[in-house]
Amino acid sequence: MNDLPLTYDLAFPQVVPSHWDAHLTRSLSNLRGQFRDAAEFDRMLSREDSLVYEVYEFHRPHIAGELLTGISIVHPGRVGEEFFMTKGHFHAELVTAEVYYCLKGQGVMVMENPQGDWAVEELKPGRVLYVPPCWAHRSVNTADREDLVTLFIYPGNAGHDYGTIEQQGFRKSILAGEEKYVIADNPRWMPPEKR
Ligand code: F6R
Ligand code: ZN
Repeated sequence: MNDLPLTYDLAFPQVVPSHWDAHLTRSLSNLRGQFRDAAEFDRMLSREDSLVYEVYEFHRPHIAGELLTGISIVHPGRVGEEFFMTKGHFHAELVTAEVYYCLKGQGVMVMENPQGDWAVEELKPGRVLYVPPCWAHRSVNTADREDLVTLFIYPGNAGHDYGTIEQQGFRKSILAGEEKYVIADNPRWMPPEKR
């Protein structure tokens, strides 16, 4: 890895970067246990392991002082009433923040911290979201047909803790409803006394 300035271009309307170092794909099977309707999840998966989201990454050293940047694309879709979403995570180095900039689509970021606070913030083109240190975060695409595309920037030493969310889930789920979306309690969320 060289130590020169890097650039990449995000050509509208697709907003896929002009180049990248790594392209990660996550499909339904990577999200087992996270959607509230497990029977519908199994039905969908038996038909097709659909692509749920993709991430384009640019490599930099995973050390303090560096910033990691890339593009996240959550495709439209639902498992039952629940919109397609990322796995979500805490940062392994818990006290590290992240900035998201929404380029395209409509969605929300579902967040919570170990103290029991939660927040859901809308993502729409042109919106910047600051995720403070210690807050787990998951992007959710609430559109029927359009991708949700965000640019993210976070500290090089942040790392990812997926295990905590895989085990306990998020407090809130984002469901289709009469409004654009409904914020509901997640029946699969594991309260602190059961962990
Ligand atoms: C990095 C970050 C994003 C996500 C991406 C995919 O810290 O928050 O780049 O990694 O949106 O989501 P996850 O990592 O939860 O699969
Ligand atoms: Zn993150």
